[in-house]
Amino acid sequence: MTRKRILSAIQPTNSSLHIGNYLGAVKQWVEFQNENDAFYCVADLHALTVETDPEVLRSRTLAAAAQLIALGVHPEKCTLFLQSHVAAHSQMAWIMECMTGFGEASRMTQFKDKSQKSGSERTVVGLFTYPMLMAADILLYQADYVPVGEDQRQHIELTRDLAGRFNSRFGKTFQMPEPYILKASSKINDLQDPTSKMSKSASSNQGILDIMDSPQVNAKKIKSAMTDTGREIRFDEKEKPGISNLLTIHSSISGRSIADLEIEFAGKGYGDFKGAVAEVFVDYFSPIRERALDLINKENELLDILHEGAKKASEVAGATLESAYSKVGLAR
Ligand code: AMP
Ligand code: TRP
Repeated sequence: MTRKRILSAIQPTNSSLHIGNYLGAVKQWVEFQNENDAFYCVADLHALTVETDPEVLRSRTLAAAAQLIALGVHPEKCTLFLQSHVAAHSQMAWIMECMTGFGEASRMTQFKDKSQKSGSERTVVGLFTYPMLMAADILLYQADYVPVGEDQRQHIELTRDLAGRFNSRFGKTFQMPEPYILKASSKINDLQDPTSKMSKSASSNQGILDIMDSPQVNAKKIKSAMTDTGREIRFDEKEKPGISNLLTIHSSISGRSIADLEIEFAGKGYGDFKGAVAEVFVDYFSPIRERALDLINKENELLDILHEGAKKASEVAGATLESAYSKVGLAR
């Protein structure tokens, strides 16, 4: 099989990724980089659609990059960069904005949800044009596949519409990208409300496992996770959502099958089981957290890595931008 071009991005909206981000997205990025030509981006420009203190945005952006590297996104195996380091993203976004219908953009459900929540006076235009910047992110790299969560599917559909429209109007310029919807099987739920997804915006602090939190804090959260009143360690999302979620977490980290874990913990109590999940979690994430903290402390080294990535990214993105600019009639 030939190597495919992959592009994905994550917004630096928090100072720590949580275990759902890792198991649901970043872990698969790490797998893709081996067999493919992967471009991974920290979408710092997208993060500007929500008002954030400048110092906070800056440190979250660098922390996101550090965590990606610590989790195994390898700057030698893929191209890792910050969106704002590659000017072509903003430049191509304008082209995309001029190709998108107002009505078409108004139908984006994420925009509708987010803008309804904050009201039209407090919604910035950047939130409306966000999907066109995302289309630029993808099309600049001629990506074959875009691994994303289900919530981003509509934005990929828009990107495909824009690619098709541009290609048919101006001649083939962009590769048609395919969404690669990340497996829902690794969906991680809130520890305190195990029937809803673990999420930075919806979960309480006790319900979420941040990889940058101290091992002690996370072990404690796992040990106080909500479980049912029964005694059996058995995977049953309906009757035992809490235990099932913990089984998923253990299995995803340890690589052991759920069936195997059910056998190991047959006849044992919830306390023993939670202790084992906490141990697996701490053993796995402690060195990762240390590595990320180390990179955050060596900011210059981290920035060097990112500038290196941006250089590689700019070559690909710059060529696509030039071609698109001249196709639409901008005199070069
Ligand atoms: P977010 O910043 O919340 O949009 O998350 C970024 C990506 O992480 C999503 O597109 C998902 O692929 C993944 N993700 C987030 N939360 C979870 C979760 N609770 N379980 C599994 N994957 C998740
Ligand atoms: N909008 C995506 C999210 O919130 C992040 C993102 C920005 C992205 N640009 C992208 C994802 C390009 C895939 C491809 O999760």
